[in-house]
Amino acid sequence: MSQAGVALREALGQGHIGFVGGGAMGAALAGGVLAAGLPAAQLRVADPDPARRGALAGELGIETLADNSALLAASDVVVLAVKPGLLRPVLAALRGDLARPLWISVAAGISLQTLGGGLPPGARVVRAMPNTPALIGAGACGFAAGAACGAADREIARALFSCVGLAWEAPSEALLDAVTGLSGSGPAFALALLEALAEAGAALGLPPEAAERLAGQTLLGAALLAQQSALSPAELRAQVTSPGGTTEAGLARLAAGNFAACVGDAVRAAARRSQELGEMGAAEAPAPGAGRVATAPGKVNAPAGDRNAHL
Ligand SMILES: NC(=O)c1ccc[n+]([C@@H]2O[C@H](COP(=O)([O-])OP(=O)(O)OC[C@H]3O[C@@H](n4cnc5c(N)ncnc54)[C@H](OP(=O)(O)O)[C@@H]3O)[C@@H](O)[C@H]2O)c1
Repeated sequence: MSQAGVALREALGQGHIGFVGGGAMGAALAGGVLAAGLPAAQLRVADPDPARRGALAGELGIETLADNSALLAASDVVVLAVKPGLLRPVLAALRGDLARPLWISVAAGISLQTLGGGLPPGARVVRAMPNTPALIGAGACGFAAGAACGAADREIARALFSCVGLAWEAPSEALLDAVTGLSGSGPAFALALLEALAEAGAALGLPPEAAERLAGQTLLGAALLAQQSALSPAELRAQVTSPGGTTEAGLARLAAGNFAACVGDAVRAAARRSQELGEMGAAEAPAPGAGRVATAPGKVNAPAGDRNAHL
């Protein structure tokens, strides 16, 4: 059992997690939790699509249900993983003790206040902002817990999202807009850099496929180096920048093009848009997007862009 799995087992005890929505994110979280070592008997997924239920049951070996209210009755933690526009109708249609479970929503742009509006007063609610790499277990998630949540609830949320990557608890919900701008939209920014690197390499004569693989591995390696080193990214960068060398020549061009300011503008623009969408209710509006990643059972190689058109 992984460290995240141990933490989740400790926080959850013999409790059960139910996922409302077995799409890309619901399936990724369920798969991550299973891979971390939680027994399949402690997980259930509800989804209206029989084919998806069959795929989830077959590939993950967990119980699947068609009825969200039956899932609620059997769950101590309910993860809301439907499209943001469906969240309110899904909550309104639920029958049962809505005050009992811990609710965890991953719906982009749906505030704790909106979530609480569909639940009894005092309901324990966590709002999370995962990102697309969670679909391959390499996510970065920020979450904020509602006022009624206790330490154990926060720990369950942290452990759950740690099963699919990094989980960070924001001290205030307002910071989730910044999380959206940075790690929610960030995968697309990183992919834009990957594309630019690959195109530049191809323009210099590298076979395009080799350029793309070299670019991807370079970004992956740099990120892992930054994660695993005691040095800061700036110190690591200085280490590989010899005076008069190749890297210095390239970095000078990045500085001349205001690279850092441009990236900062991108993150701020995404955070601002997240705030605007949140104020509008965000239900159907686009938020941080998924690319061509589809690892959910039964959906491998499905066009994620279609399925995540709301994102
Ligand atoms: N994918 C990401 O990278 C990502 C990142 C951050 C946040 N999120 C959030 O995660 C949530 C789910 O996104 P997703 O990408 O997983 O979407 P998705 O692949 O469309 O999954 C949603 C699932 O919910 C099912 N569903 C529809 N109505 C339902 C109902 N009444 N009860 C139970 N399930 C129902 C859908 O079935 P049908 O397809 O048959 O309607 C679908 O299987 C969204 O709120 C999104 O904002 C996703």
